[in-house]
Amino acid sequence: MRTQVAIVGAGPAGLMLAHLLWLGGIDSVVLELRGREHVERRVRAGVLEHPTVELLREAGVADRLDREGMPHHGISLRFDGADHRVALTELTGKTITVYGQQEVVKDLIAARVAAGEPLHFEVSGVTVDPATPLITFTDAEGAEQRLECDFIAGCDGSHGVCAPRVDATVHKHEYPFAWLGVLAMAPPSHSELIYAYHERGFALHSMRTPEITRLYLQVAPDQRVEDWSDARIWDELGHRLSADGFTLATGPILEKGITTMRSVVTEPMRQDKLFLAGDAAHIVPPTGAKGMNLAIADVWVLAEALGAYFREGRRDLLDAYSDTCLRRVWRAEHFSWWMTSMLHQAPDADAFARKLQLAQLRYVTTSEPAATSLAENYVGLPLQL
Ligand code: FAD
Ligand code: DHB
Repeated sequence: MRTQVAIVGAGPAGLMLAHLLWLGGIDSVVLELRGREHVERRVRAGVLEHPTVELLREAGVADRLDREGMPHHGISLRFDGADHRVALTELTGKTITVYGQQEVVKDLIAARVAAGEPLHFEVSGVTVDPATPLITFTDAEGAEQRLECDFIAGCDGSHGVCAPRVDATVHKHEYPFAWLGVLAMAPPSHSELIYAYHERGFALHSMRTPEITRLYLQVAPDQRVEDWSDARIWDELGHRLSADGFTLATGPILEKGITTMRSVVTEPMRQDKLFLAGDAAHIVPPTGAKGMNLAIADVWVLAEALGAYFREGRRDLLDAYSDTCLRRVWRAEHFSWWMTSMLHQAPDADAFARKLQLAQLRYVTTSEPAATSLAENYVGLPLQL
């Protein structure tokens, strides 16, 4: 087998890259470890930044997003038992859209299938040689395959095989908490997202549809899902999200899972002909909803660079790829770390630390310049900084 760009991983990064390359007339082959049903069902992120939505529209894959996505014009920071709204659209002129990551994945898979372009699910034993470049793998039927290519895109997430092939400095930071995420058959209790600061720990109220809510609780990193009965989850959410005049709608819990929180940045995001994108190159803690949006921004930069190479023989954009992405990645790392630090209860936090958090929360909700800074990061900075 031969192609121009071999793409490892069919998450948002790999699928969006494949689509952008196809629009630019560049051939690619996508290889995915899991089955189609599995990747289409994986519940993860849910907030699309303004530039992500614009890009999906420009790429012609936003019809369902425009019908079913929920545009939001503000978020609430809830502390001292009351809501303090950050008016995203008034402050920046931009919106965010609530639309599940797996819906983006479904739309991109549908586009790939409609284009009749190669997308191999259930491959195994993927090996990556960045210098030649060459990929070997076993296909779903058990046949050994060799995939020759001009470039490899490592879009295989944080546990993939591509990142370990890059000779890089890996910057890491662990956070002393995790998130218990819940998907519930209950209507949203509020029209916007609520980021709640509470002495018992952080809580987040989000949503997927007018019938389904997505809720998160800060928990200790050693907690297991089995420690959290449905009744305990609703009870804890009730405490942390309590506010005057607010009633939390409850209902059957459809799914629950625990995600640990860490920051990781791989520098550079390239080795020879192998380019890393998305979670394969960097991880952010989820507070601020940047993970999937960063993945989409990376592959836009990569698609532009590969386009310039294949159309005009230019290598400059490919050579600048890692630096270009890392400017935006580090900005998002800072924002995610900052939101996380402001909103969570650290195990060793004393009264002084809590007073500082509250002072910061009051500042970002009462000073227009401070609120604008939060808002411009939250709605998404330009794809290229
Ligand atoms: P992924 O979506 O991880 O896609 C990588 C793909 O590569 C996967 O389909 C995987 O199966 C495949 N793969 C792996 N290894 C191989 C291999 N060897 N060969 C072939 N294919 C391979 N972000 C938020 O903003 N908010 C959230 O609430 C949130 N929740 C999350 C919950 C969890 C459990 C996780 C893991 C992440 C969460 N994130 C969240 C982060 C966000 O989902 C990611 O940033 C986003 O998925 C990155 O997209 P990606 O395409 O880079 O990687
Ligand atoms: C969601 C996830 C986030 O990490 C966040 O900051 C906001 C919303 C969500 O899954 O809806």
